[in-house]
Amino acid sequence: MNNLELWEEYGEYIAPVFQFSEHIFCKGQGSYVKDANGNRFLDMSGGQFCSVLGHGNPKVAERAFILSQNIVNAGVNFLCEEVLYAAKAVHEICPEMNGKAFFLSTGAEANECCLRYAKQMSGHRSGVISFDVGYHGLSLGTEGYSMGRAYVKPQLKNSFSIQAPVVYDPECADKVDWWSSVEQMEDILKAHHEEIAAAIFEPIVSTGGLLYPPKEFWEEIRNLCDRYRVYLAFDECQTGFGRTGTWFYYQQLGRCVPDFLICAKGIGLGYPVSVVVFNGNTIPASSFVMNHVSSHQNDPFGAGLVRFGIQQIEEQGYLSQNREKGYYILDQLRQLARECPALKHPRMCGLIGGFDLDFGGDGKAEVLEKSSQFSEAGLHNGLLLQFGNYGRTVRLLPPYNISYTEIDSFVANLKKTLDTQRGLFCQ
Ligand SMILES: Cc1ncc(COP(=O)(O)O)c(C=O)c1O
Repeated sequence: MNNLELWEEYGEYIAPVFQFSEHIFCKGQGSYVKDANGNRFLDMSGGQFCSVLGHGNPKVAERAFILSQNIVNAGVNFLCEEVLYAAKAVHEICPEMNGKAFFLSTGAEANECCLRYAKQMSGHRSGVISFDVGYHGLSLGTEGYSMGRAYVKPQLKNSFSIQAPVVYDPECADKVDWWSSVEQMEDILKAHHEEIAAAIFEPIVSTGGLLYPPKEFWEEIRNLCDRYRVYLAFDECQTGFGRTGTWFYYQQLGRCVPDFLICAKGIGLGYPVSVVVFNGNTIPASSFVMNHVSSHQNDPFGAGLVRFGIQQIEEQGYLSQNREKGYYILDQLRQLARECPALKHPRMCGLIGGFDLDFGGDGKAEVLEKSSQFSEAGLHNGLLLQFGNYGRTVRLLPPYNISYTEIDSFVANLKKTLDTQRGLFCQ
């Protein structure tokens, strides 16, 4: 069946929780996916940033097959050996944390769990500070700290936000006023520290516009959290697991080591796995004052995939490769920006980055409409592109095994798309 036939035969059975594309995907291999009409697309967001080793990776399939032939769920009060091996493997890739790992399913679930513990451990303080444009999921708790707050009714009590510093290049952060965000945080803490349990941030703000607050900013935030005895949680659902060229992005941020580290998406190689890492230096075992129960916690299948992913990233040398590929993409994007002034602020840190497109105007609806036209034109040219920041920023988080030839093909097709869509831009 082709795209249209599939929609006609089955479309009515899918809940319309999103405005889905007309393309129905049937196959995926490496960095490419194919739709039912046989069109092939280069997936520059790597399966919603989850397929870090590519689609249909035979090695992942083989390991998943082996894992699926063993115990599927031991119940919450038993541990499987596979989970212990995975916890040690996670511990070893974040040595600064002396970490203890807890495996869950999704990013939102892991953030919920982290905040649930932070609140209990802080003696029942309930407040949380986050970025105004941060994103931590859309469960009933996390949506209160995400840019989707607009839909939260009623608003969560004691939810505070500070402005995310608008830094596109941490090397040039001295030109940006990030200090006022530190002051905002200090003002909130001065007035409410008795109520605040945790501050949760993405160290690179992705959905909210691909912003890279510098190391100096994070060191100030760490100092404030220490001074006011507030837990610092880093949501590395996108930046973790090697994407930025280190295992976790906090490892590029000097003295800023978080108390909780959350990772999801890529860590499961495409399967739903997330992890909360508790900092063993700042959260002693005696701080755990309650149990956590969730059907898929510490599943041996998911944990086994995490360990396999770590081995693969090490064996294939993806940390340094991601860094190099990031520089390569950035060079190409800078060249495109010189040719097309509507492409603004190209930026990459390893394999997380992108650029803004200047659609002009302030009208949200108008920008969203134009960005969706641009995405459609990208599809026409064989590119799967994803926007964040309400349609202003194209996000690039390709699989780690994307080849240089594929990157060149992305750049050529992006250029073609920019050329044909000039009418959408204000310059
Ligand atoms: C930084 C960050 N945190 C949390 C989440 C939520 O993860 P999930 O969609 O798996 O619940 C996302 C999802 O995009 C994310 O990007």
